[in-house]
Order: sequence, then structure tokens, then C-alpha cells
Amino acid sequence: MALSASRRRFLGLSAGAGATGLLWSGGFTSAFSGDRSMPIDVTDWNAIRGLFELDPALDHFASFFLVSHPRPVRDAIESWRARLDRNPYETVEHHQFSEGAENAAMQVAERVAKYIGAKPEEIALTASTTQSLALVYHGLPLRAGDEVLCTTHDHYSHHESIRYACERVGATSRQVQLYAPAEPVDVDRLVERIVAAVGPKTRVVGLTWVHSSSGVRLPIPQMAAALKARHPELLIVVDGVHGIGSTPDAAARLGADYFCAGCHKWMFAPRGTGILWAHADAWAKLRPVIPSFSDIETYEAWLEQRTVATPMNALRMEPGGFHAFEHQWAMGAAFDLHLAIGRERIGERIAALNTRLKERLADDRRITLHTPRDPALSAGVVAFEVAGMSPEAVVAGLMARRIVASTSPYSPTYARLAPSLVNDEASTDRAAAAVLGLHA
Ligand SMILES: Cc1ncc(COP(=O)(O)O)c(C=O)c1O
Repeated sequence: MALSASRRRFLGLSAGAGATGLLWSGGFTSAFSGDRSMPIDVTDWNAIRGLFELDPALDHFASFFLVSHPRPVRDAIESWRARLDRNPYETVEHHQFSEGAENAAMQVAERVAKYIGAKPEEIALTASTTQSLALVYHGLPLRAGDEVLCTTHDHYSHHESIRYACERVGATSRQVQLYAPAEPVDVDRLVERIVAAVGPKTRVVGLTWVHSSSGVRLPIPQMAAALKARHPELLIVVDGVHGIGSTPDAAARLGADYFCAGCHKWMFAPRGTGILWAHADAWAKLRPVIPSFSDIETYEAWLEQRTVATPMNALRMEPGGFHAFEHQWAMGAAFDLHLAIGRERIGERIAALNTRLKERLADDRRITLHTPRDPALSAGVVAFEVAGMSPEAVVAGLMARRIVASTSPYSPTYARLAPSLVNDEASTDRAAAAVLGLHA
């Protein structure tokens, strides 16, 4: 792929090392052979489950918390690790800082772009959802008197990113509740509530695609369209970590200006990886936060002691500093796996397993479901309460029955089961039976 100067991931070049990097030719391993064939039949859910080394004595319903690497990802990490251990200098020079098809970060960005419906140059590789959110909010041109509107349903990382960024410049933030606990949600009401909450000072709206507190999936396209129709200048930031890899939607086409997600949950990418996507106009509005090792113009401007001459872009926001390259470069294997299975099929499968679980729980009057049964307003997380039991007691009771569940890290806290591609119908039924068998 031909790269423009602004696309070059360059830094760390010692004098003349650019040429060295380009001329260097090691034997390529499977991690970079361009061989993206899958080791299994991706139409077979059992074969997909077989890619994981999860403890078979347990049913795992907290996989959305942190990924267990599937085999193609383990293999890619191991392959890159071996190369880095043999020759860290040349491996990084060649695969991070060189121009051309062997630039591993570029290869990753291309596959991410394909999966989320974006252009590779719109994507910055990050370490987590938290890092992506912090980069956006600190990069935004907020001023004293501006307001960031978000919701009571967002994650700690989202609220705190907003708070730190606002405090630095004298901006303020406000949270709107889109629904009360266990209140039925519908698209029109969610749209109305967010639109009604926008005030005269609101410059930015932060939303979470799938709430990890309640399992509610927001209709982001409708909400974004309604917000932009009335306030074209508003910037919309989405925390999409529990929607990417669990729904059929293309993350970059939701109508957001900035899409933040860790890839180490539903996407099965290596632990410590994430993305930040924005369209070119939205990138142009940001200021860099962490010095980039990916944007050639930043580096050349520093060398020549001048100001940067090109517009802000994704690579300039990509956090520099050496990091676990074997993990970042192995992200492509996870996106290839998802591309091979298909976004639609993944969304359908996860919706089917989640609907199955909710149907089984819904009949028990001791159980309060906080997640809508409608697959359009939910995704891969089922949040619930059992009358007379604390969420912690529910999770402990399920663990005693060899079901791994989790509590939501919010106030109020609920128990959560998250059927995913590592589960099947039988394990989903076991989880439902275990909940129904809990006694206060
Ligand atoms: C909605 C939401 N946003 C952000 C995070 C933080 O994710 P990360 O560990 O990728 O920073 C989580 C964690 O589960 C989450 O549920």
C-alpha cells in the first residue's frame, strides 16, 4: 500500500535508519505472511469456541470483562514476540517505523477499518477504552463556560475523563438520566431525553453504546441524527466497547464524531489494545495529548524546530512511547477472525443467546431484568437482580455452580451474565438454571 508522508509510522529512526528499515528483510513468519486463512471452519460455533483455552470446568459468562485470547491471536502474539526477542531493534524499525506494506500498525489499521466501516487513516491505535476516552476529552477544544453533557449510565472512565478535561479549562459537565432502573426503554423516549437535555452551553455529548450497568443498547444512530439535526455543531463522543464485536453495526457509521473502544473484550484482540476512530473533520478539531511516534510531520517539525504544517490527524493522536508491540500488532488477527465470521452473524448469534437467557429468567418473579428483551435495545450483557440477594451473593452463588458471572461496577450494582461466542445454548441454559436455582 502506498503511504502518504502523513501516514508513515516513523519515529525512532536513527540517522539513515529509515533506509535501513526499508532494506531490512527478515524471513516473514505467519504473523506477517499475509496468510489470513482461518485455522477452523468459521461457520461452526463449536469450532470457534474451541479456539479458546478457557477452563472447561466452568461456564464463562464474564468474557466481556477481559478477553481470553483465541488461538489465532495467541499465535500472532507469539510469532511477533519471538521476532522481537531475536532482534528488537530491527523488528521495531522495520514493522513500526518503515513505510510500506510491512508496517504492522498500518496492517492492523486496515483490518480495523474494514471491520468498523472506516478508512485506515481515521484510526488511532490505543491501549484501552479508558485511554481513547481520555485522549478525546483532553484533546477537545473545550473552553471556560463550555459544557459537556453525558449520562448517568456511563462508565467511571468516561465520567472521569470528562471531569479532568473540564476542570483543566473551567468547563462544566452535566449528567442526564435516560431511564430509571428497570424502566422500559424505547427509541423515541431515549432520543427525546437526550435532545431535551442539551443546553445553551453544551458543546459535546458523551454517550455509551451498550451500558455495562444495565445492558441497555442505545439507539446511537437515531440519537446522533436527532442531536445533529437540532445542533449541527455538537460533537458526539461514543464509548462503544460493549457494542463493537457484539452487534452487527459498523461502529464508524453510527453517526458519532469520536468512537472509543477497547478491543480486549468482545473483539478478542490482545489485552491492552483499543482504538479511537474519528472522521477527518473531527480529528482536525483535536489537540494532541501524548507525543506520537507515528506521525512523521510531528517529528520533522520537532527536528526543524517549527510548528506542524499539516492538519491534526489520527496518527498524531496515537500515543507514542514504546509499548507491547507484539500485542498491538497481533490485533489484526482478532479483526480477521471477526471479519471471517462476519459482523452480522456475530450479532445474530450473540442476540440469540442473550434472548434465550432473558426468556428463561423472565418467568421467575423473583428476578428483575434490567436489560430490555428487545435485541435492538440490548446486546451481549444481561443485568439482573434476584429478590433478597445482593449482586455479590448472586455471583458467588453462581460461581459455586461453576458459572462465572460478574457484578456491574456502578451504583446501583447488578449481577451480570454475558453470553458470547465462547458460550452455546447448553451453557446458556445451565446459567439460567443456576440463577433460577439460587435461594435467598
Ligand atoms: C462501558 C465501559 N467503558 C469503559 C470501560 C473500560 O474499558 P477499558 O478497560 O478498555 O479501558 C469498561 C470496562 O468494562 C466499560 O464497561
